[in-house]
Amino acid sequence: MEHEAFMNAREYIELEERYGAHNYHPLDVVIREARGVWVTDVEGNRYLDCLAAYSAVNQGHCHPKILEAFMAQAHRVTLTSRAFRNDQLPLLYKDLHDITGYDMALPMNSGAEAVETAIKAARKWGYTVKGIPRDKAEIICAADNFHGRTVTIVSFSTEEQYRDGFGPLTPGFRIVPFGDIDALREAITPNTAAFLVEPIQGEAGIIVPPDGYLHEAWELCKQRNVLLVCDEIQSGLGRSGRMFAFEYENVRPDMVVIGKALSGGFYPVSAVLADRSVLGVFKPGDHGSTFGGNPLAAAVARAALAVLIEEGLPARSEELGAYFMDRLRSIPSRHIVKIRGRGLWIGVVLDTPARPYCEDLMKQGILCKETHENVIRFAPPLVITREEIDWAVERIRTVFLTRE
Ligand SMILES: Cc1ncc(COP(=O)(O)O)c(C=O)c1O
Repeated sequence: MEHEAFMNAREYIELEERYGAHNYHPLDVVIREARGVWVTDVEGNRYLDCLAAYSAVNQGHCHPKILEAFMAQAHRVTLTSRAFRNDQLPLLYKDLHDITGYDMALPMNSGAEAVETAIKAARKWGYTVKGIPRDKAEIICAADNFHGRTVTIVSFSTEEQYRDGFGPLTPGFRIVPFGDIDALREAITPNTAAFLVEPIQGEAGIIVPPDGYLHEAWELCKQRNVLLVCDEIQSGLGRSGRMFAFEYENVRPDMVVIGKALSGGFYPVSAVLADRSVLGVFKPGDHGSTFGGNPLAAAVARAALAVLIEEGLPARSEELGAYFMDRLRSIPSRHIVKIRGRGLWIGVVLDTPARPYCEDLMKQGILCKETHENVIRFAPPLVITREEIDWAVERIRTVFLTRE
């Protein structure tokens, strides 16, 4: 066994590279602890986290209220499996209903599992309610989507690397350009069960569709008896400046998929929300997960939701996001093509690779990650302050000036 007390960053990285699969290309910062928006590495350097674990720590790292709920529940009971009932899951169901208005929820763990669950629900709804002939159901998805990494989900990715080498892929999906309502209209057939879409595409580089797109898609789905399924795993739970990004377009999707910040980063917790007319298609034995809906997850999720509401984090994201974006726009750089986003979810599009900028920002004490080669994403925990944003912008300015 290694003696971790004597290990430095290089040694951790060597262990990871030697014994771990290389399915990620992380920045070489080895984090030991974190609180709020700040993380500290094994050498004691402090950084402002501008990624927030891909929006899983919207509430800030190790939020004390969620930590308390986590510890209290961990002392009582963590896992019962759904073979038995527990005294936390019903309370989470009720909270989700009260907050979102949907009749029901189905809890899972990772985001990808929740997306798979939504796909299964949509297909079963297609056969049992809409009357689509057996095994003919189609789901329409948007180009440049990101919904996770399972075989079925990568089957409708338009990113070649996500699919290459992982076939045979799952059939039953059609792709339309994101933001193109005419393409969606043309793609719908009598066998279309659902349109699955991120209201704002995160991994594609924080792409906000044209105003009115989601509303028109909703109207179209209603007319053609197609379920509108919004993947709010990254955009939801305050990140975009609303509890859900679809609120900007005044729509009520038939299914909503959430994850990430549903646990404030403590634990993988995800869920599908819908009315009884949709989630009611599941019968005992149709679907499940050993850990999905466990009491530890339910207790953590309840606390994480309470923090979002009590601390007004969606509104804070809207206000401080606008401020952050304004400040970023004041940086003079010939390499910035565009700055876009909503709330504290900002993409800075460059005309050059973003990775070297992220590496320089790390040296300045800011952690962020490139997305799609040339976009730097700034998505700090929503508890960030104005002063911390000012601090970050000065460092971002320095990096841009030295790279002109
Ligand atoms: C919109 C969206 N859907 C699904 C996922 C997959 O979630 P997970 O990584 O928890 O499986 C992600 C993760 O980044 C996401 O951004």
